[in-house]
Amino acid sequence: MKKQRWKKIGALLAAMVMAAAVTVTMAGCGGGEAPAPEQTDSETQAVENNGTAPSVAVINVDTKGVVPKEHLVVETEYGEVNLTGIDLEKPMIALTFDDGPGAGTGKILRVLQENNAKATFFELGSNVENNPEMTKQLADAGMQVASHTYSHPDLAELSVEDMKEQYSKTENAVKAAAGTTITAVRAPYGSYDDEVKANTQYPIILWSVDTLDWSSRDTNAICDSVYSAGVGDGDILLFHDIYETTADAIEILVPYLQDQGFQLVTVDQLFAAKEIKLEKGGVYSQA
Ligand code: NI
Repeated sequence: MKKQRWKKIGALLAAMVMAAAVTVTMAGCGGGEAPAPEQTDSETQAVENNGTAPSVAVINVDTKGVVPKEHLVVETEYGEVNLTGIDLEKPMIALTFDDGPGAGTGKILRVLQENNAKATFFELGSNVENNPEMTKQLADAGMQVASHTYSHPDLAELSVEDMKEQYSKTENAVKAAAGTTITAVRAPYGSYDDEVKANTQYPIILWSVDTLDWSSRDTNAICDSVYSAGVGDGDILLFHDIYETTADAIEILVPYLQDQGFQLVTVDQLFAAKEIKLEKGGVYSQA
């Protein structure tokens, strides 16, 4: 895969962020002396932060004076991806949720926020139109809202015209609900062919761990599928946020996976962090 070009915020801005964060640290430590950078214990930091942390200032207050990571934004052809707070040297995975917004979405969002985790929601445009407020909440919370088409057809069986309509109607629904643009699609049933690839203007994101939550609809079975999967760095896990049993499993799995040392990031963050450029019409099942 092609290596992605990094766009780092200028050294001046980075220095300003560092300086501001150190100030916060000192206040949080009751005016004590700020630690030197070499004292940073990033191992401890990752654990204490419960995975990813979006805010530089919060990192420092919560971790008793650990020096902040560099403010890092990567520019892709789909827009900027913010990697601030993600430790690029440590394992990360992407939780993904299909078919919503639905019965489990609200609880899943709450669990993610409580654990300072991020995830990607491949939503159906039709469901976004039915519940635009939920889609807005996801986007506002920093979750990646992506496309799962408008009405869940097998793309390989559609005309090019119909396929593009599936994409555009979903783009419009998400734009109207949350004001965000689509940067990835998950093909329903994981089904695609050369014609689909040639006419898709985003990367096609599949998965490397299938929890079969749609089949079992059993919280324990969903958890067991993850425990036994041998989840590793760069994996993409497939769930569906239309089931309450999935939401109940997520409440168990998010802290479990973080205890295993995984940062929970969006698909965009996962590939940007691994310096893998996502191509239009390219198919990806892990990073
Ligand atoms: Ni689906």
